[in-house]
Amino acid sequence: MSGRHGWGMSGQRAVVPMESHRPWMASLDEGQLLDTQRAFDSVAADYDGPRGNNELIQRMRVALWEAVFDRVPVGANLLDLGCGTGIDAIEFARCGYQVAATDWSPQMVGRTRSRAAIAGLESHVTVEHLGIHQLGRLKEQFAGIYSNFGPLNCVPDLPTVAAECARLLRPGGHLVFSVMGRVCPWELLHYLSRGRFRRAIVRGRRGATAVGMNRHTIWTYYYLPREFYRAFADHFVLESHRALCLFLPPPYLVDYYRRHPRWRQWLGWLDDHLGALPLMRDMGDHFLIVMRRR
Ligand SMILES: C[S@@+](CC[C@H](N)C(=O)[O-])C[C@H]1O[C@@H](n2cnc3c(N)ncnc32)[C@H](O)[C@@H]1O
Repeated sequence: MSGRHGWGMSGQRAVVPMESHRPWMASLDEGQLLDTQRAFDSVAADYDGPRGNNELIQRMRVALWEAVFDRVPVGANLLDLGCGTGIDAIEFARCGYQVAATDWSPQMVGRTRSRAAIAGLESHVTVEHLGIHQLGRLKEQFAGIYSNFGPLNCVPDLPTVAAECARLLRPGGHLVFSVMGRVCPWELLHYLSRGRFRRAIVRGRRGATAVGMNRHTIWTYYYLPREFYRAFADHFVLESHRALCLFLPPPYLVDYYRRHPRWRQWLGWLDDHLGALPLMRDMGDHFLIVMRRR
């Protein structure tokens, strides 16, 4: 998604007061899910633009790809939760995996379908309009399930998602997720130095937080890795977790990164070599978590 600072078009993120939730919706969860769907629909067309798919995002993307390559044999089938415009799905299909790509935004689903058609990979990628909260509709079993750049931050009931993932994954299969974390030192410093205190601490909030994107609302749940894992612990063993964009700035601050070429290599090195150490791995713009089905 464009310039995702966590989310969205770079620099347009705003915290929306909880009262903005519309009271006539059937339930809070349903209303949240529809708000979030509209938000992503609204950015699908230019989601792969220079801000939405910048070099920091690509760097983080490769970390998830490598985690999947390391654990799931080429040729096996993968489920993509919240596939967006299908960048990951097409990459895995190109490498020989069979991918079922799903997303809650119909516009994103459309983008993934066209990407698969343009790449001539329709026989390797199926694309379905399906929310992560609707996994009960799937019957097939998978060797691996991945989700990149925070779709799981948009789901109200994580323990149910965990149980569904356990059902959909073969024994010994892996989950590889990148999830927006609670503690992003760059973000704290960036907003505190501008006197935007409320914005600086948005990730510390409990429960659903309304985050603005493109004049819409994404209802977002932030997690520490251990909070996130707790929802999965009954069904999955935690194999590893590491920070993504801890020393490097988050992707929405890519301009800092571009302005300081001499720092790039160092910060990247620090991310790669220290990001998995205790304490460090609990921070960062996102964390990459790998779990194995018990
Ligand atoms: C930040 S984008 C990431 C997209 C893609 N994984 C990528 O790496 O580019 C988040 C995606 O999650 C999707 N999403 C949000 N809530 C969802 C839900 N409840 N179920 C499935 N997908 C959801 C959005 O439509 C959007 O495509």
